[in-house]
Amino acid sequence: MMIPYARQSISAEDIEAVVDVLKSDWLTQGPTVERFEAAVSSFCGAQYGVAVCSGTAALHAAMFAIGVGAGDEVIVPAMTFVATANGVLYQGGRPVFADVNSDDLLLDVTQIDALITPNTKAIIAVDYAGQPCDYVALSALAKKHGLVLVADASHSLGASAGEGGRVGALADLTVFSFHPVKPMTTGEGGMVVTDNADYVARLKRFRNHGIDRDSRDRQQSGQFQYAMVDLGFNYRISDIHCALGLSQLPRLGAWIVRRNEIARRYDDGFAELPGITPLTKQAGLVHGYHLYVVRVAQASAGVNRDQLFQLLRQRGIGVNVHYYPVHLQPYYRSALGTAAGLCPRAESASEEILSLPLYPDMSDAEVDEVIASVKDCVADKGVVHGKVCC
Ligand SMILES: Cc1ncc(COP(=O)(O)O)c(C=O)c1O
Repeated sequence: MMIPYARQSISAEDIEAVVDVLKSDWLTQGPTVERFEAAVSSFCGAQYGVAVCSGTAALHAAMFAIGVGAGDEVIVPAMTFVATANGVLYQGGRPVFADVNSDDLLLDVTQIDALITPNTKAIIAVDYAGQPCDYVALSALAKKHGLVLVADASHSLGASAGEGGRVGALADLTVFSFHPVKPMTTGEGGMVVTDNADYVARLKRFRNHGIDRDSRDRQQSGQFQYAMVDLGFNYRISDIHCALGLSQLPRLGAWIVRRNEIARRYDDGFAELPGITPLTKQAGLVHGYHLYVVRVAQASAGVNRDQLFQLLRQRGIGVNVHYYPVHLQPYYRSALGTAAGLCPRAESASEEILSLPLYPDMSDAEVDEVIASVKDCVADKGVVHGKVCC
C-alpha cells in the first residue's frame, strides 16, 4: 500500500449531495452552480465567483476577462504548473518568467520592476504549496504600474494573509482549482473570484461560447434568442461537480488545520536532519499546505533528490516533484526561446525539491512512517555506507 502524496476526502454526505443533483432537473447550468459560486466567494471574502470546468479554464478565462491579447506580456513565476503560463499563451499573450525566492519558492517581488515594459498587462502570483504570496507588495507594484494582479491560488484556497484577509480577497482576480489533490475538490473544476462586475460578465460569457445568455436564463424568460458576442469556449462546470464542492466546503477549515498539524510534525521530524530542509513558512499568515516540500541538499544528505525519490517510492511513500521550471519545458524553449539561466533560483530548486505526502485524512502514524523512511534513506546512503549506491 502506497501512502500517496495527496488524496481527496469524500464523505457519505458528499455522495448523497451528488446523488441528489442526479435526481434533480438540472445536471448543468442549474442552481447548484450558482450556490457553489456564492458559497466559495463569500467564504473567501470576494463579491463574485464564476465556476468553470478546471483551474486551467479559470486561468484562461481570467486572461480573457482582463483583455490579454496579442503583444501583451504577463509576468509569471518560473516555479509553477505549466497551466499558469499556458493561460497567457492561449490568449496570444507572452508569459515573462520571473524568478522565485530560494527559501519559500514564491515570486520574488524585488525582481518584478525590472521585467515591466510598456506591454506588461498583468502579474500572476502563484501561492506555491499553499503559502500566500506577499500581496501587499504585489498590489502596490501593480497599482504603481497600472497592472492587473491575478492570484493563481490553485494551491491555497482556505489560506490567509493573516490580518490582510483570506486568499480570494487579496488580488484583482483569484483563480482556484478543485482537482482531487487540491485543498477541496469537485472532481474537476475551477473558479475565478473577484469584486469586479465587468470581469464577471466577461467570465460568464467566455465559459459559454461567448454567448450573452445561458440556457436557464432563456428558459426562465421564455425566449429563445441569444447572441454570441465573443469567441468563448464550453468551459462550463456541471451541477453534479458543484454539489460535491458545496458539500466539501464546510470541512475546508478543519482540513487546513489538519494540514498545518501534519506540516508541524514534519518540521519537528526533520529539525535535526542534515541535508533535508523544509521550505520556509513566513510569519503572520495561515499556510494552506497543499504541499509539504523539502529541499534535498546532495552534499550533506548523502543522497540526491532523484535517488531519494526512487528510494522512498520503493518503500511505498508516494513522493512527487513540483515543479520543473516552466521556461525549461520543451514547448516554451521552442515557442519563446527561453533557456537555462533565465531564472537560476527556480532552476536550482527544481533539482532539489521533493513533495512529501500530505492530505487531511493522513494519520500521525503515516506521517511518522514518512519521517522514519526519509531518515533511513538518508542514513543508509549518507552515513552508513558513506557513498551513494543506487
Ligand atoms: C499552480 C496551478 N495552477 C493551475 C493548475 C491547473 O488546475 P486544473 O488541474 O484544475 O486545471 C494547477 C493544477 O495542478 C496548479 O497546480
